[in-house]
Amino acid sequence: MGRRMSEAFDAFMELYSGLPREGPGTVDSLLNVLEIADVPPLGRVLDAACGSGADTETLTRALPNAEIIGVDKQQAFITAAKARGLNADFQVGDMLWVDGEFDLIWCAGAVYFFGIETALEAWRSHLRPNGKVAFSEVVWRGQPTPKAEAFWLDAYPQMATQNALTARIEACGFKVLSAEPLGRAGWEGYYAALCKNIARLQGQSAVMDNVIAETQAEIDLFKSDFGCYDYVVYLAEPL
Ligand SMILES: C[S@@+](CC[C@H](N)C(=O)[O-])C[C@H]1O[C@@H](n2cnc3c(N)ncnc32)[C@H](O)[C@@H]1O
Repeated sequence: MGRRMSEAFDAFMELYSGLPREGPGTVDSLLNVLEIADVPPLGRVLDAACGSGADTETLTRALPNAEIIGVDKQQAFITAAKARGLNADFQVGDMLWVDGEFDLIWCAGAVYFFGIETALEAWRSHLRPNGKVAFSEVVWRGQPTPKAEAFWLDAYPQMATQNALTARIEACGFKVLSAEPLGRAGWEGYYAALCKNIARLQGQSAVMDNVIAETQAEIDLFKSDFGCYDYVVYLAEPL
């Protein structure tokens, strides 16, 4: 990594440090998935790209006797996750190169790094009989406004409509068991905490201000144009 890129990355990690979670999400949306997923009480669950462990915490509360593993590639997030003091095993690692088999692989806000096809292909052989995958992914849920289209075309050009993503999951040989939009509250909670970091760090350096500007553009878009896009929380099982 060049010095400039490394400075930008450090600023990014500082902006995202100390947050309750690192992407949109809610406790209830994960509990809804667990209700349908039917994970055995002594089952094995992976929180892939767990960040600082917000959803791992929900998993440990909902499944107190299960074996819960959280994996993230950033040491700083794993350190923060471990500090939660949960009955979970946290490891620095790659969300696609996982060990063993699971009754549920959960992945909030990180499938987009690889695309759904690559993620499902990697996870399929790590599912126990009756095992399932669940993940949240940002999709178009209505006619994009011009501002939203311009933003997401730049930030995530592969972003699909909800129906197109469902078709792609099915084309991978998975049956979609549920697909629930996250809704406004799941973004608001995440952005509220992020805005506190922005207020604290703004003006610290030119590099930090650049990183903040990108994040602020996303938050501004949410305030003006949310609705035509949302995260959808999918639960699917191999056919
Ligand atoms: C938007 S954050 C979501 C974090 C967490 N799931 C949450 O919802 O709070 C995306 C996470 O993916 C992690 N990540 C990105 N690529 C990864 C990879 N190849 N393996 C493991 N983690 C990865 C990042 O470090 C970051 O913690």
